[in-house]
Amino acid sequence: MKDLTPNKSDLEPIEIASVDEIRALQLKRLKWSLRHAYDNVPMYRKRFDDAGVHPDDLKELKDLGKFPFTYKNDLRDNYPFGLFAVPHDQIIRLHASSGTTGKPTVVGYTKNDIDVWADMVARSLRASGLRRGDMIHNAYGYGLFTGGLGAHYGIERLGACVVPMSGGQTEKQVNLISDFKPDGIMVTPSYMLNILEQFHKQGLDPRKSSLSVGVFGAEPWTNAMRLEVEAAFDMHAVDIYGLSEIMGPGVANECVETKDGLHVWEDHFFPEIINPETGEVVEDGEMGELVFTTLTKEGLPMVRYRTRDLTRLLPGSARSMRRMEKITGRSDDMIILRGVNVFPTQVEEQVLATGGLSNHFQIELYKSGRMDAMRIYVEAMPDAADNASKTAAARMLVKHIKDMVGVSTEVIVGDPGEVERSQGKAKRVVDNRGGE
Ligand code: DLL
Repeated sequence: MKDLTPNKSDLEPIEIASVDEIRALQLKRLKWSLRHAYDNVPMYRKRFDDAGVHPDDLKELKDLGKFPFTYKNDLRDNYPFGLFAVPHDQIIRLHASSGTTGKPTVVGYTKNDIDVWADMVARSLRASGLRRGDMIHNAYGYGLFTGGLGAHYGIERLGACVVPMSGGQTEKQVNLISDFKPDGIMVTPSYMLNILEQFHKQGLDPRKSSLSVGVFGAEPWTNAMRLEVEAAFDMHAVDIYGLSEIMGPGVANECVETKDGLHVWEDHFFPEIINPETGEVVEDGEMGELVFTTLTKEGLPMVRYRTRDLTRLLPGSARSMRRMEKITGRSDDMIILRGVNVFPTQVEEQVLATGGLSNHFQIELYKSGRMDAMRIYVEAMPDAADNASKTAAARMLVKHIKDMVGVSTEVIVGDPGEVERSQGKAKRVVDNRGGE
């Protein structure tokens, strides 16, 4: 793989500023943001008043812990525009996430918000090893999802050339990659596996493709998956994180030279990790739920937004801003089996560590008597699809999961192509437990 470490002179000064400088900027911006939310959004005013806090009470960064949390339901309860903090004629873009139940959550951006977003995605791409003059194939879905357009504007801001492919039409994705020869690809990691499979179907060697960087996000993926994709394409695989409520892609990103967790772009988003049960802020280094407060967002300021994503904060490395460890999963995706917490990412690690199995899998939850139980559907590799190999691989995966994760599961190894393919965010868990 090529050394794509960016030149120091290409970085923004704040990326290599001292921690003290970053904290000073954050404090100044946080004061503005709390005041902006309080003055312009009735929900925040009421929440702050009810909690007996006022924006002026924030004297230092740790005072943020006195302020109330914001939840996804608050966006639903104020559907569609109730949390916007500027007059409607200043909102120039809307996005929405469908969610599985109830109303979608709607987010709005001012011109300046769109500008900051493009800057943050451009910064993320630079950290990923991409630069001006590169060509980037964008396979994140365009539309209400923030992935497609968020990436698009960032690619242009970087001065790179965007191929606005969007998701789906896998055959065409591979044709375009072969013909246009892009340097980078932006896509969900699970859809990248689909693209990989299509390379093989077309008799192409993915290692000979032009791609030298993949910027993967929008869903959890493991370091084991990173190694698999890097080896398959002979390219760097870098993690990009974000969420619509805070902005979209580009809230945090890994650096290609270290790949040791995602630097949170702390000049615009202030991270905290809390104990999800008590709401207490925990020390850097401790695991918990990630909470974000926006520092510059005009259209939809967010104060202590509960992401439900589980991770921990680590000190800066390639950049001064703190890192968040690769996300283990969302608290809502956590499966509790006979008292043991299981995340789909743990299953992914074990599937990838088991010989003879492909990287496509799905987890089914069902009732076995009164107990919850888990079944894993996975596929044999084409060269290991005979019955004896499938039985051996199933046994091995059951054992790996028992030993490494601590739960008993059933494993069904199907033929290549049997597990549903992802077109964007993979649906890893199918819940058939019924409403009991
Ligand atoms: O998924 C924004 C995005 C688009 C990020 C493209 C990266 C690339 P939402 O649809 O609002 O926004 O979903 C946000 O997706 O709270 C996480 O649970 C999950 N997620 C996003 N990025 C990552 C990642 C976009 N790198 C939710 N690792 C978040 C793990 C991620 N989970």
